[in-house]
Parts: sequence; C-alpha cells; structure tokens
Amino acid sequence: MSPIITAIVVISALTGGLTILLLIAEFFFANYGEVTVDVNAGEKTLKVKGGANLLSTLASQKLFLPSGCGGRGSCGTCKCRVVDGGGPLLPTETPYLSDEERKTSVRLACQIKVKNDIKIQVPEELLSIKEFETVIEKITDFTHDIKGIRFKLPEGETIKFKAGQFANLFSKPYDEVREETSRAYSISSAPKDNKAIELIIRYVPNGMVTTYVFKHLKEGDKVKLIGPFGEFFLRDTDREIVCIAGGSGLAPIRSIILDMIDRGISNRKATFFFGAVTKKDLYYVEEFKEIEKNHPWFRFVPALSRDDSDHPYSKGLITDVVASNYSDLKNMEAYLCGSPGMIDACEKVLTSKGMPKTQIFYDKFS
Ligand SMILES: Cc1cc2nc3c(=O)[nH]c(=O)nc-3n(C[C@H](O)[C@H](O)[C@H](O)COP(=O)(O)OP(=O)(O)OC[C@H]3O[C@@H](n4cnc5c(N)ncnc54)[C@H](O)[C@@H]3O)c2cc1C
Ligand code: FES
Repeated sequence: MSPIITAIVVISALTGGLTILLLIAEFFFANYGEVTVDVNAGEKTLKVKGGANLLSTLASQKLFLPSGCGGRGSCGTCKCRVVDGGGPLLPTETPYLSDEERKTSVRLACQIKVKNDIKIQVPEELLSIKEFETVIEKITDFTHDIKGIRFKLPEGETIKFKAGQFANLFSKPYDEVREETSRAYSISSAPKDNKAIELIIRYVPNGMVTTYVFKHLKEGDKVKLIGPFGEFFLRDTDREIVCIAGGSGLAPIRSIILDMIDRGISNRKATFFFGAVTKKDLYYVEEFKEIEKNHPWFRFVPALSRDDSDHPYSKGLITDVVASNYSDLKNMEAYLCGSPGMIDACEKVLTSKGMPKTQIFYDKFS
C-alpha cells in the first residue's frame, strides 16, 4: 500500500472512531437541561428537556407539525421557521429547501436538535391540530393490497378538516420495531362525517407502518391519530375540475367529491380519472358510478393499464386516457394524488395541454 493510501486509511479510521466516540459520549453524558421553545413570538412558551429533535420536542408538548416520514428526513414536510437558536443548516435539510426558504430560515424540524433556547414560527392553524385516541370501528379489504379503515373518535370529540387533508397514523411497537412510528395518510371520508376518520392504506412490502396495519391491526384496537394537516384541498374557484389518482391516491379525491355533494357545489364540472393496473385493483367503483348517476356535474373514468380482458373501462395508462379526453386545459384545475412518478407524469400531460402549474394541486405519497 502506498504511503498516501495508508495515510488516507489511517485518517479515515481515526475520524470515524472519533465520531463514534463523540456520539457515544453525547448519548450517555450530554445533558442540555431545561430549554425554552418560543413559538410565534411569545404566543406559546414551552419549557422542555433539551436533547431531542425539534419535531418530537414539539409533539411532546402537543404541538404537531406535519410529518410524512415520521422524522426520518425523507419527506420534507416538517418545515418551520427557526428565528433563533437552530444552529447551522444541515446537509440532510438542504435537498428539501428552496433558496427562498433557506433565506427565510425555514428548517426541517426533525433534523434540528434542541440543545438551547430556540425561537420558532409556525402557521397559526397548526396550533389547533389535535391528537385523537381512536378505536378501529371497521376494516375493509378493498383489493389484495389496499384496506379501508374507519377510526372512531372518542365519545364527544369531533374533527374539523378540509376535504383532501391528511392525518398521521401511529403504529405501536411490534416484532423488531421497538418504537412508535408515524406516517401520513389522506382522509377519505367527508368532513361532515366528523365523529370518525376513514383512511385508505396500501401495503408497502417491508414498510414499517403498513406492515403493522396489515399484519397486526384489528377491529376494536386503539390507535393514535394526529391531524389534520396539509395544503391539498379544493380551491374556492369556479373552474372545471380534473381529478387523477392511482391506488390509495383515491382517498383524498373521494373526500373532496363527497364534500362537494354535502356543500351543494354543482356549478363546477368534475371528472375523476382513476388509474389501476387490472380489474382486481379497482375499488369504490359502485359508489362513484352511483354519484355519477345522481350528480350530472360528476364523471367517473376508471382506466386499466394492463388488462386485456373484456371490461367496460378505459384502456391504457391514466396519463394517456386524460390526454385523449381534453384538447385545452387552460381554464381547468387539477387535483392529483398517488406516487411521485404518476404525479410528475400527469403534471407533464396537463401542462402540455395548457394548464398553468399554479392550477395543479397534488399530494405525492412519498
Ligand atoms: C401527504 C401524504 C399523504 C399520504 N397518503 C397516503 C394514503 O392515503 N394512503 C397510502 O397508502 N399512503 C399514503 N401516503 C404514504 C404513507 O405515508 C407511507 O409513506 C407509506 O404507507 C409507507 O409507509 P411504511 O411505514 O409502511 O413504509 P416505510 O417504512 O416508510 O418504507 C417505505 C419503503 O421504503 C423502504 N425502506 C424503508 N426504510 C428504508 C431504508 N432505510 N433504506 C432503503 N429503503 C427503505 C421500505 O422497504 C419500503 O419499500 C401518504 C404520504 C404523504 C406524504
Ligand atoms: S418529518 Fe419527514 S423530513 Fe422531517
């Protein structure tokens, strides 16, 4: 081995060893004592034990920021402004922050460790987000990998949310998973149905929360939910609506359509394109067909991408089906929900037909 390579190996080993020692020392000996978290310039002052990340520190005080990935730093939804005391921006945060956000001290709360007094700003509506200890009322198998779950809220409690928003579902420790874990799920029920929350959950192989849901959860179990969160909801305009979803992405679209019916919004045409692979991946078809029959402003277009059997639905990728239905989308508005790949592909189709990006709203299930 050349002396240069030997030196690199030795330095890397020393640095690695030192980092591990520092982490061990911090774990066992660091005591940050009590620190103050000032929220919205004195609107709330929280006295907390230092040492945990900002997201969980706030949650321990019942102040809930949105979190898609449960604090793993992989969704970028736990943003808040840190006015003072947040330390330097970390490399784990930068991919999720725009230049504008960096300039205005926006940070990822799950990445910041609360070591000293800190001042933050959060949107006012987050201060009213609630934690619910729910009971599973009903579990329905919609397809081989999609379940619908109805969670009953505690007696006397209600939830106020905008159709399209999501809640965080907490799994309890199970098998090798030692900690409570949370993930985001769009609410599929209507806001009017405010004594319960319905979610539609697709199984992700080896996924922490969906494995818990599919392998361990049963009717009658108690489950923690926090919400509502999110900016995905129907905008108050007169524009015609195009909804596109795949798989469990149907959830917030169902809530939006049910809410339009409850609120008597009949002056806006709405078409729901629902993409699935084969017939066995379709669900809620009867319900949407019934809505179509009773409400002339609504049209339901299920499409199958890989099913050559005889069926009454559209054939092909959902993007192609949408494209073949419209020539000009300039004055319409779109609501998209599903995998990041599907949403990116839909956005391309919609903008190529003249829809401005400002009229496209989505939740990526990342
Ligand atoms: C706003 C929003 C709304 C959503 N709404 C819905 C909804 O209505 N319905 C729905 O079904 N989903 C929804 N999702 C997705 C949902 O939040 C979860 O991401 C999804 O259910 C997977 O969670 P999980 O814990 O089971 O999987 P995770 O444990 O998060 O794992 C996901 C995948 O990553 C892999 N993985 C895990 N850890 C690692 C690692 N360290 N390295 C490499 N790979 C890894 C797993 O094997 C798996 O394939 C939504 C997401 C967002 C952001
Ligand atoms: S909670 Fe997902 S990045 Fe912070």
